[in-house]
Amino acid sequence: MAYRIHEDRLGAAFDCAADDALLRAGLRARLPLAYECNAGGCGSCKFELLDGEILDTWPAAPGLSERDRGRHRHLACQSRPASDCRIRMIGRGEASEAPTPERVGAILEAVEDLTHDMREFRFRTDRPANFLPGQYALLSLPGLGSTRAYSMSNVANDTGEWQFIIRRVRDGVATSLLFDLRPGARVTLDGPYGHAYLRTAAARHVVCIAGGSGLSPMIGIARGLDRLGPQHGGSLDFFYGGRSADDICGEMMLRDLPRLGGRLRFHPIVSNEDSRWTGRTGMVHELVADLPDETFSHADFYLAGPPPMAEAVVSLLARGRSVPADRIHYDRFF
Ligand SMILES: Cc1cc2nc3c(=O)[nH]c(=O)nc-3n(C[C@H](O)[C@H](O)[C@H](O)COP(=O)(O)OP(=O)(O)OC[C@H]3O[C@@H](n4cnc5c(N)ncnc54)[C@H](O)[C@@H]3O)c2cc1C
Ligand code: FES
Repeated sequence: MAYRIHEDRLGAAFDCAADDALLRAGLRARLPLAYECNAGGCGSCKFELLDGEILDTWPAAPGLSERDRGRHRHLACQSRPASDCRIRMIGRGEASEAPTPERVGAILEAVEDLTHDMREFRFRTDRPANFLPGQYALLSLPGLGSTRAYSMSNVANDTGEWQFIIRRVRDGVATSLLFDLRPGARVTLDGPYGHAYLRTAAARHVVCIAGGSGLSPMIGIARGLDRLGPQHGGSLDFFYGGRSADDICGEMMLRDLPRLGGRLRFHPIVSNEDSRWTGRTGMVHELVADLPDETFSHADFYLAGPPPMAEAVVSLLARGRSVPADRIHYDRFF
């Protein structure tokens, strides 16, 4: 069953199935609705319910404050329709050049351990995998009542292959289920989503900055750059921050990219003192700060990782080095 949703800010209407989220149905209808995480954490998709009834799938979601709740605001990524509705989005969204998101069944084909807690998962769908490098999808797992966002580490392809590098979270509900999945398991993918995709219009130098589980979309950006080939002209500085030497991975994947070759510089850093580590110790944004001035004035910056890391990097770039917002691309991992 589907309901009709009228959105007042854009003056547009769309259909939303009873088991779909208002945000995702609106994006499937290609409306430029405001959002970032799709996971209840960032608050970008707030709306006012002007008429009708909704089902709030996560009433305690951290993206809403008590004040928001008092003002009858909701999160479009955590709201399903229970009748026709009239809503007004609070934030202004941006039009996207990314493919239209869709829900599709997928089978787990293979897994590969990268570190003690990071694993690359390879899923297959029976239709082409259509997304831009750096985007993410929502995974529905058997036994999990809600979805989780995971970023693709590969690039679009006609064979329906979707790869994700996922970090196991201690006592994490979804990652515990994921790390128990065996090849042949069936899941549902919903995507692609996200604004932090590779921009290809200008052949600019690219800087990727990843912390922990943020490796996946940054590998996706690097693979996208490799696919463009040397005619793109841009080279890549790739920063990766972990806690200890055991966490550092990804360099071999990057060195395997045939067309990136000598255009790649890999900069790992660990935050904890570790006697086995001979490289830099500190936070990843401290290493980024050492880039030459001309990189800050010309490069495109992509970053992914936990919100404190993203905030430290964005603060360095925007306030410390005056990089304009249209050259900084990220979706925070809540
Ligand atoms: C845009 C984006 C991209 C991401 N990409 C990656 C990636 O490539 N690799 C990676 O390892 N991780 C990624 N993450 C993090 C990932 O989505 C999970 O938060 C992480 O794996 C922990 O999940 P968990 O269930 O194991 O942990 P838990 O601690 O059990 O759950 C934490 C997360 O689950 C969600 N959640 C909790 N309760 C509910 C509920 N009732 N309804 C809905 N959601 C709920 C929240 O988002 C919360 O942050 C990404 C997150 C975002 C937002
Ligand atoms: S809270 Fe809905 S997009 Fe982040």
